[in-house]
Amino acid sequence: MYRSHNCGEIRASHINKTVILSGWVQKSRNKGFIVWIDLRDRYGITQLVFDEDRSSKALLEQAQKLGREYVIQVKGTVIERASKNPNIATGDIEILVSKLTVLNESLLPPFTIEDQTDGGEDLRMKYRYLDIRRNPVKNNLIFRAKVTQEVRNYLSNIGFIEVETPYLIKSTPEGARDFVVPSRMNEGEFYALPQSPQTFKQLLMVGGMDKYFQIVKCFRDEDLRADRQPEFTQIDCEMAFVEQEDILTVFEGLTRHLLKEVNGVEINQFPRLLYDDAMRLYGNDKPDIRFGMEFGELNHVSQHKEFKVFNDAELVVGIAVPNGNDFTRKQIDKLIDWVKRPQIGALGMVYCRCNEDGTYKSSVDKFYSQEDLAKWAEVTGAKKGDLICILSGVTHKVRAQLSALRMELAERLGLRNPKVFAPLWVIDFPLLELDEDTGNYHAMHHPFTSPKPGQIELLDSKPGEVKANAYDLVLNGNEIGGGSIRIHDKATQAIMLKHLGFSEEEARAQFGFLMDAFEYGAPPHGGLAFGLDRLVAILGGQETIRDFIAFPKNNSGRDVMIDAPAPIDNDQLKELNLKLDTKEVI
Ligand code: AMO
Repeated sequence: MYRSHNCGEIRASHINKTVILSGWVQKSRNKGFIVWIDLRDRYGITQLVFDEDRSSKALLEQAQKLGREYVIQVKGTVIERASKNPNIATGDIEILVSKLTVLNESLLPPFTIEDQTDGGEDLRMKYRYLDIRRNPVKNNLIFRAKVTQEVRNYLSNIGFIEVETPYLIKSTPEGARDFVVPSRMNEGEFYALPQSPQTFKQLLMVGGMDKYFQIVKCFRDEDLRADRQPEFTQIDCEMAFVEQEDILTVFEGLTRHLLKEVNGVEINQFPRLLYDDAMRLYGNDKPDIRFGMEFGELNHVSQHKEFKVFNDAELVVGIAVPNGNDFTRKQIDKLIDWVKRPQIGALGMVYCRCNEDGTYKSSVDKFYSQEDLAKWAEVTGAKKGDLICILSGVTHKVRAQLSALRMELAERLGLRNPKVFAPLWVIDFPLLELDEDTGNYHAMHHPFTSPKPGQIELLDSKPGEVKANAYDLVLNGNEIGGGSIRIHDKATQAIMLKHLGFSEEEARAQFGFLMDAFEYGAPPHGGLAFGLDRLVAILGGQETIRDFIAFPKNNSGRDVMIDAPAPIDNDQLKELNLKLDTKEVI
């Protein structure tokens, strides 16, 4: 038996009991005549003691040789500690060790296994198994398991069936590039790893499965960010015989359940915002509504004077920064530099101080009167003591810039409290999105999303205006889920694919299986997928999903621990009928 107890459970009530513990040496304090060891396992830390009076000489010497992260087993008696440690659960006791077995030695770890470690990101990724021993990472993984379990319980209890779908498939377009896998048995042919199980879950609806879910890996070859990994996990869901309202109700229920069970937070009905309103009020389709600072459009109160910058702009729009009048001139200048960085791309920023005495002081006083500025304050909702920040230019660009500024200011002002949860639905997304580089339209969600009833006729004349039965679930400024009501008839699907630029042959080759299935009694259906990594990170009060994934990739898509991706040898290439190293061919 390796252990009778774990390192987190022994209390004063165990005093005088004999226990066996196994774990890692967290810390050793060697005073010569007495040695204390902090023994750690997943459950906590228990202090061990060895000393001249009560331990044999050999045992004391053995204890003195223990290094950090050695794996040991000890047998001993629980005793009361002379100086108690109220900071840890086992702080009232220690173990007077009678037997010590070294189960395995350890090299000195490359960083300290402490909550606050001295290890940099790269080093910790390389030795991820050591990083997982640290409480912050370990607790995140345990937290993820709890959320996942709650999801399974909730959905299973309301009749959802968990079905696995294949990983070796054909391209499922979700807007990213595919990861491909060469087929040995089919020369020159490739599988694609799923960007999502989208088509399969629709086929399950045709198969009559009615309520499906799956906690499933998805693969997308796209640029990485804090909230994106090349392989990530979805809670993928689909239902038959449903309308948008049914889907929103069920998955709002799931989200509410998680917030309650995991975070102890009760939230009533989630607000719903039309996509167009989200863009107008927040410049963003995933607004963080934990704080105000809604956009105020100022064209009508700013384009009547001689200020050319505003007069030439498609949109003049501002936000009121609470108590922003406290900013010094230098701080405001820095803010202006911030919006002018290439990542944000604004040409400049106009500001207006709202003084406590009711007067205004703007950077464009030469053009605007106090009455004009008072109107700006009214439109942006600025109060005395606030600062109005105004950007202008081409609508979609200015909205994106002001949205970035809004988030940055909220971060700096501490308005993004991770313990506050503000979910909302964004609904009525456009069906199509214009690709500025190619001038072509592509599906904003995916090609299987249905247009709003009666709007399909607009596809020819005003493609950009067609709205979809598509919705996103947003939590604290992050898109944690998205879905749609699907097209379920062949004719509509064919029209949609045609508008996305597929020829009939291409549509047949890529999606023939789905179109065929639609001819065998496909029920109306729809669904959504949550990004599990994002959901877990946000419920956990953070936004970097890497911290909630056991073995994540770095920003270049590499696993630096196992060193992947890596070249494969020529024999393997040959077997896969892939290009050989030239030397080998000769
Ligand atoms: P979508 O592409 O919106 O929809 O993806 C659903 C959710 O998955 C998460 N997500 C990601 N998380 C981490 N890393 C990534 N690279 C990444 N990409 C997406 C997001 C997103 O909201 N098949 C559809 C769903 C449906 O229509 O039912 C789909 O995949 O949180």
